[in-house]
Amino acid sequence: MFSDRTAWSLEPNPLSEALADRLSSGKPVIDLTESNPTKCGFYFEAEQILGALSDPAGLHYDPVPQGLLPARSTVVDYYRARNCAVNVNDIFLTTSTSEAYSFLFRALCNPGDEVLIPQPGYPLFNFLADIQDVATIRYPLIYDYGWQIDFHALQRAITPRTRAIIIVNPNNPTGHFCKADDMHRLNQICLEGDLALIADEVFLDFSFGKDILPTFASNNKALTFTMSGLSKISGLPQMKVAWLIATGPEALKQQAIARLEMIADTYLSMNTPMQLALPVLLERDNFQQQCVERTRKNLAHLDKLVSTQKLCTRLNLEGGWYAILKVPLTGSDEDLALELLNTRGAYVHPGHFYDFPADGYLVVSLITPELPFAAGIEALFALIDEKFRKDS
Ligand SMILES: Cc1ncc(COP(=O)(O)O)c(C=O)c1O
Repeated sequence: MFSDRTAWSLEPNPLSEALADRLSSGKPVIDLTESNPTKCGFYFEAEQILGALSDPAGLHYDPVPQGLLPARSTVVDYYRARNCAVNVNDIFLTTSTSEAYSFLFRALCNPGDEVLIPQPGYPLFNFLADIQDVATIRYPLIYDYGWQIDFHALQRAITPRTRAIIIVNPNNPTGHFCKADDMHRLNQICLEGDLALIADEVFLDFSFGKDILPTFASNNKALTFTMSGLSKISGLPQMKVAWLIATGPEALKQQAIARLEMIADTYLSMNTPMQLALPVLLERDNFQQQCVERTRKNLAHLDKLVSTQKLCTRLNLEGGWYAILKVPLTGSDEDLALELLNTRGAYVHPGHFYDFPADGYLVVSLITPELPFAAGIEALFALIDEKFRKDS
């Protein structure tokens, strides 16, 4: 009755089962995994946001596959503020970056073709690719006082079926940015192998440094598709607005745009009220100020707690919403997370959730409200301290 591509194992894992049990029995949970900004106690300008959705022009339907011109111009303005010139004709509005990925996989890949994805990385890639009959091949990120791409391994991972390299800038959950030298090497590899670059920049605005970091949206060397959207930039994932920008050698770019336009025209999935509201929804200062303050405070507090003990360290990060803790290997990360949840009510993600190749890593969300964040980290360190004493 069903397709092979949807034959996923839908069994809940022990950690998600334990979480569901705990929640259904009414026991408190200190959730250090929350990355939905609408659930983290941020203040949103309700009147302004909701008011923007009631423009009377929303009663008219004027389907434009790439998205209404004024809405795309708002995206141009966003990049202009980052000193990056984007052509309004190169932009496609989509209802999420997930939709943008599916458009790209359809435009670039035949069934069984491959895209390279970073490891550790965003957990949704495998599903997004599966649904489009595309295979994901990992390329490793290595940590040595900071994260970087293992370019040798990346090049070895390329096969005749590879169509694209996906870069997340900054990466989720490692929080490292792609540097100018990395961009240069990626361009070379893509040009040599006739590959496209797909740059997911949903976290680009969230840097712990002061400099405005370069975006792939102005990359004209290799065929490049840069995506971002409101989920992170404005903390509004429920609005379902994202975009895709094609850049690169002109002839190739125009071919890509023509194909993507046909895909977008087939669905016409962007709704009009949301496009009309985009100038207001992309007004991001209010959210970003709160978010930056929250992530900086949590990070500072995390470091203070890390400095009071010797068993766990925090890996360096440059941006994004996550921190990675290196924890002692007393068992699997999943068992540690399970024990933390069952005995102290704190919920963290084991590294394998983000495809860490080995145990010894936990991931926490830095947009967690400050009090539970501190309580959860204290509970984690207390548990690890207790386990370590028992084991040694
Ligand atoms: C790397 C990355 N890309 C995309 C998204 C989601 O974007 P959207 O809501 O536009 O699909 C996330 C969400 O966590 C993410 O981490």
